[in-house]
Amino acid sequence: MRMRFCYGSIVIFLLAALAACSRTNTGTSTDIPHLRKQGTATQLIVDGKAFLVLGGELHNSSASNLEYLKPVWPRLKAMRINTVLTPIYWEFLEPKEGQFDFSLVDGQIRDAQSHDMRLVFLWLGSWKNSMSSYVPDWVKTNQDRFPRAQDRDGTGIEALSTLSAANRDADAKAFVALMRHIKEVDGQRRVIMIQVENEVGRMGDTRDRSEAANKAFAGPVPKELLDYIGSHKDTIHPELRKAWDAAGSLTSGTWEQVLGKGARTEESFMAWNYATYLNHVAAAGKAEYPLPMFVNAFPSGPNRAPGMYPSGGPVPEVADIWKAGAPAIDFLTPNSYDPNLTDLWTRYHTANNPLFIPETNGTTGAHTVFYALGQHDAIGFAPFGIDSLGVPPGTGTPTAPADLPLTQSYEIVTQLAPLILENQGKGKMAAVLVGPDDPPQKIPLGNYVLEVSYARTRRPPIAAPAKPAAGGPPALRSPAPAAAGGFPGAAQLADRAGALFISVGPDEYIATGSGPVSVAFSPNTPGAPIAGILSVDEGTFVNGRWVPGRRLNGDENGQGKFLRLGGGTSRNGPIQRVKLYRFR
Ligand code: DGJ
Repeated sequence: MRMRFCYGSIVIFLLAALAACSRTNTGTSTDIPHLRKQGTATQLIVDGKAFLVLGGELHNSSASNLEYLKPVWPRLKAMRINTVLTPIYWEFLEPKEGQFDFSLVDGQIRDAQSHDMRLVFLWLGSWKNSMSSYVPDWVKTNQDRFPRAQDRDGTGIEALSTLSAANRDADAKAFVALMRHIKEVDGQRRVIMIQVENEVGRMGDTRDRSEAANKAFAGPVPKELLDYIGSHKDTIHPELRKAWDAAGSLTSGTWEQVLGKGARTEESFMAWNYATYLNHVAAAGKAEYPLPMFVNAFPSGPNRAPGMYPSGGPVPEVADIWKAGAPAIDFLTPNSYDPNLTDLWTRYHTANNPLFIPETNGTTGAHTVFYALGQHDAIGFAPFGIDSLGVPPGTGTPTAPADLPLTQSYEIVTQLAPLILENQGKGKMAAVLVGPDDPPQKIPLGNYVLEVSYARTRRPPIAAPAKPAAGGPPALRSPAPAAAGGFPGAAQLADRAGALFISVGPDEYIATGSGPVSVAFSPNTPGAPIAGILSVDEGTFVNGRWVPGRRLNGDENGQGKFLRLGGGTSRNGPIQRVKLYRFR
């Protein structure tokens, strides 16, 4: 008996030790961060639970020095940021070919751990904003071995060519070393996703003009792509479908035979080449450690032709080519500096692509997080240049984190995160961005239609948009830095209010946002024709549990006429619960 007990204990002990080892060292496939569908939404699962990325992306070179980052961490934590998007530079990771230095990787994982934050690593390998500024010296200085893209006159540019297996394999080798290392050291799963490269594409031209590229462009469209187009013809982008149909829906032929002559065809050719290159890199990395991986785009737009944004990057017009060429990339994301975010995000949030915002303007767009989460089930949101948000140049005093609009938005979303995650993909959430000049917006949600109007108490004016710097027409440059809201339309964006609604019962909503908005309700189902407000309560969520504050049934809701978010003389709280009833 004694003996048996003893053996049993040993066996249990060994099994427990084994389980602990597999958790801390390599992990099981279920506890590695991964994506999972919930209804129509795609969620990021971290530590076995759905996770909302309330992020911020560092300036490009901030992560090249761990000392520089020391005071940044506590400030980001105080801003309620839970995830830092931070670069890993090929030049530091592999300073000599085959010799790896993981000190910046390890340092950031360690610091994220001590601040209880997560990381999204941005792999700055072959390209950063279409150029190859972060490749190691041994790559930069060996043009024969690592060929560059070329201009029309045959001059090389400081951007590696996609048409080179040597470029691709060298990048993939470094990326594999990175992913293997993360797997070995990151038992606590601090690193939750990877962005592969940054804003890839050919800038200033529609395609690479190197000899290898000319030859490939004059050659056949790869069969895999044509098969994809043929088998997805009913769902591909209308422009791609139109071009393919117009050329005779061919199942073989050169790029110009299959898609016609023009800038979009050259862009499609580049998209295929970037997609397959990045797919090779991502797939090799995933074979080591399969974290979710995405790419980001400098978006196309109504007044921007390919080349005015990086041609071949993951923009909606060529998204199908990316999906066909890069199955190892989980989703395509928009860098979101344009004022028309509603349109941009609708173009990226599609049946086969969830929305994630890797870069946006934290000064003028803090309220847009409500729209991204409520209307588009976004996986997360991250303003760019987060380490300088609210930090004036020179010796000026930084804005206290608590006073930043971004912190205020993130504080609310942190409270609501369990409810938002529970409702993603179920058709129970909606959100609006509404400005002082917009007509009221009608949103059917649950049993009611919500009519959302901008309530005319303006926010304090924001700084005028920065003048474009000299050095090229604005459309040819990258979106402007976050600091002063320096892009056309920043003022209109900042002027809008964001509001998010969750239907939590047949006659009940949780509403939040940045205000100032008022919301009137009307029935959306048969029955008594008038919707009345039974009650509006302000409150907070503490560990996911609703804790009511004041009842707002007086001036605060117009004596039962509407729900009012943001401001108002009685300072209605930012999270409110409204209960409705019907009468004749
Ligand atoms: C977009 C790029 O992706 C970032 O790395 C940075 O260059 C910003 N533009 C600057 O506004």
